Formats: sequence, C-alpha cells, structure tokens
Amino acid sequence: MLNKINETLEYITARTRIRPTTGIILGTGLGGLTEHIEISQTIPYTDIPNFPTPTVEGHSGNLIFGKLNKHRVVVMQGRFHYYEGYSMQEVTFPIRVLKGLGIHQLMISNAAGGINPDFIIGDLMAITDHINLFPENPLRGPNEDKLGLRFPDMSEPYSKKLLGIAEATAQNLGFKLQNGIYMGNPGPSFETPAEYTFYRTIGGSAVGMSTVPEVIVARHMDLPVLAVSVITNIAVPGNFQKNSHVDVQDAAKLAEKNLVNLFSEILGVLNKS
Ligand code: HPA
Repeated sequence: MLNKINETLEYITARTRIRPTTGIILGTGLGGLTEHIEISQTIPYTDIPNFPTPTVEGHSGNLIFGKLNKHRVVVMQGRFHYYEGYSMQEVTFPIRVLKGLGIHQLMISNAAGGINPDFIIGDLMAITDHINLFPENPLRGPNEDKLGLRFPDMSEPYSKKLLGIAEATAQNLGFKLQNGIYMGNPGPSFETPAEYTFYRTIGGSAVGMSTVPEVIVARHMDLPVLAVSVITNIAVPGNFQKNSHVDVQDAAKLAEKNLVNLFSEILGVLNKS
C-alpha cells in the first residue's frame, strides 16, 4: 500500500504547488462549496494513478486544490461508496493520500436520514460519534505500521476541538447546529421502517451510507475529523415516507448555503489558531 500511496502522491505533487492544510470531502448534493474556492488545480480522479472512478449520478470526481477563506484546501469533489462495489481499501485510499499531502484535519459532509424526532429536513447535524454497521472494517488485513497502530484508539472519533469550533461558528452564523450519532449503513437500499426504528432504539440520530470507513482510516493515521450530516429525509415512527435519491439531492440543496458558510468560517477560525 505504501508504494501505491507514494506513486499517487508523486503524481499529484508534480501537478500542484498547493500544500493543503485541510482536506474536505463533499457529500451528495453539496458540491456548491466549490464555487467559493479560489481554485488553483482540478485533477480528475480518472487521471490519478490508483484512484477508483466514481459511478453514481450526482457525484463528479475531481480533486480540487485551492484556497477557501484564505485557507489552503484539497477538496474531494465526489467520494467512493462501498455500495458502488469498491473494496473498503479502495473507498478509503484517497484518505491515505490526503494525509500524505500533509493535511492537519479532515472535514466531511454527507447526506443522512434523520431518526431523531427533533430533526427536520435541511438540518445540519455535527457527528459526535458513530456506530459502524458496515460488514467489514477498512483496517482488516495486514497493518501498515508506518501509517498507524494495529488496534487504533477510537475514543475520540470526531475531534472535540473541531466540534467546539463548529458549534460556536454555527451560533455566530445564526443557525442551530444539531448533533448526534451517525449510523453507517452499507446501503444501497434505504432502511426499512423496522430498521430505522431499531437504529433509533440503539442510540442513533441519523443514518447514512458513507463516512464511517473514511473516519476509521483517518483515525488510524491520527488525523482529526469533523463530519457534518445534512438531514435530507426524516424517518421516525409515524412518518415513514418513501425515499428517493432525487429527494435526497433536493433536500441537500436546501441546506447547502448553511453548510458552505459553516465550513468556510471554520477554516477562517483555523487560520487564526
Ligand atoms: N438512509 C441511508 N442513507 C441516507 C438516507 C437514509 O435515510 N438519507 C440520505 N442518505
């Protein structure tokens, strides 16, 4: 794996002079953030050695280098999902590369179904913890000791410091940032009513089909993570409506402005620290 990472890093660093401080993964329908980036380079995933190619409608695949709110960023425009058929190693390979590029923190967005009855569509939820429902862990197999420990600690999967900054920033921006526990489900089928009820019963606040593999790999490398879910649908007893990918994208658009401002302002705070 180290050879593959190095090969990819060599390719990328020959193509951009930007040495990013923060990595950002843009989830479903949240691509509007890129309009706010002073872009230096856009590298299509298809050009990058060892990168898989995204397949799902609504996800373009580019690695974007530039500045957001005067902060050097590398942005994954489109991510790889387990449900597309990639292995867990493929899903998380870009996180290895971002860390190799020298980022100090990773900021992730995703779309998720709200199972906390206090949530409404369009809410943003800072993820404070997760429960892994994927059938496989991305760290299964031989450990690469140069990257991290065999048995990595997961006591602080989401950085308390970044969560504090996010909460204060949302308050300054004038909206309520919800928080809660993300259930990472492999998908691609949405959950049944009984499954939503079960996930709520065991402590979940929202459920989605990404993020958990990336966070495990980031924490393996001791990379601090902030992750925010856009609540695109609500699934609580008495309100089990039919889900569709199109609805999810519409709802994500609703929340996009708040999310873009949140991420951008957080980077401004990080510039000062
Ligand atoms: N379940 C799983 N993934 C999702 C959902 C959901 O209800 N909404 C958006 N992504």
